[in-house]
Amino acid sequence: MSGERLERIRVNGDVPEHVAVIMDGNGRWARARGLPRHLGHREGMKAVREVVEGAVEAGVRILTLFAFSTENWRRPAQEVSALMGLLQLYARKEGAELRRQGVEVHVLGELQRADATTRDAVNAIVEGTRGGGAMRLNLMISYGGREEILRAARLLVERVEKEGMEPDEIDEGVFADALFTRGLPDPDLLIRTSGEYRISNFMLWQLAYTELHMTDVLWPDFDREDLYEAILDYQGRERRFGRVTVA
Ligand code: FPP
Repeated sequence: MSGERLERIRVNGDVPEHVAVIMDGNGRWARARGLPRHLGHREGMKAVREVVEGAVEAGVRILTLFAFSTENWRRPAQEVSALMGLLQLYARKEGAELRRQGVEVHVLGELQRADATTRDAVNAIVEGTRGGGAMRLNLMISYGGREEILRAARLLVERVEKEGMEPDEIDEGVFADALFTRGLPDPDLLIRTSGEYRISNFMLWQLAYTELHMTDVLWPDFDREDLYEAILDYQGRERRFGRVTVA
C-alpha cells in the first residue's frame, strides 16, 4: 500500500518542499477509548515518529509540527505537565534515530516559557541533530501566530528606533525575516487532523498561499499512508498564488 502511494507521489514529481501539520484529536482519541487525555497525547507521539519517517521517505525537505500553542498553557496544569513530559521523552528517546535518518530538529516559539528540564531536553536534541541533511523538523513549542507577528513588529520598531532603519524599508522580506521562520520557505501544504476546519493561530503570516488538507482522522491514528494521501491531494491542486493560469 505504502509503496503504491509513494510511487505515485514520485511519479507526480512535485513533492511539497514544506509541509506543516496541526496535530489535533489526541483528546478525542483517548475519550473514545475511555482513557485519560494524556494517553491520547502519548499515542500522538507515536504518530509523530511515523509521520517524520514517512516525510523523509517522500522527500519532504521541511516538516513543521504544531506541538504546543501559546493557548495550550491555559489547559489544566496536569495536562500541561504531561505534554511537557512527552516533549522531554521524545527529545531523549528520538535523538539517535533522528540523527540516523538525517533529520535536523529546530524549535520555534517561546521556549523560554517552558520549564528548565524541558528546555534542556529540547535543546539537547537540537544540538544532537545539527547538520542532518535529509529533512528539517520544526517543532513549534509555545508558538502562536499572532504572538509571532507582534514579536516581529516589536523587533522592527526597535530597529527603526535604534538602528535608524527607515519604515519604508520594511517590506515582506524584511518582515518575514523577523519571524521565527526566518529564512524558510512558506509551507506548501498544511494538514489538519480531526475534522476541524480552522487555522487556530498557526503560522498566520506564512500560510497565506498554502494548500489546505483537512482530514477526519484523529492525530493518534494518522500514519504515513494518511500523509501520502495528503501529498497526493496537494499534487492534484493548481496553485496560482493570486494570478491566473496562462492557457
Ligand atoms: C491536540 O489534541 C494536540 C496537542 C495539543 C498536542 C500535540 C502533541 C503531541 C502530538 C504529542 C507530543 C508531540 C511531540 C512533538 C513529541 P487535543 O488535545 O486538542 O485533542 P482534542 O481536540 O481531541 O481534545
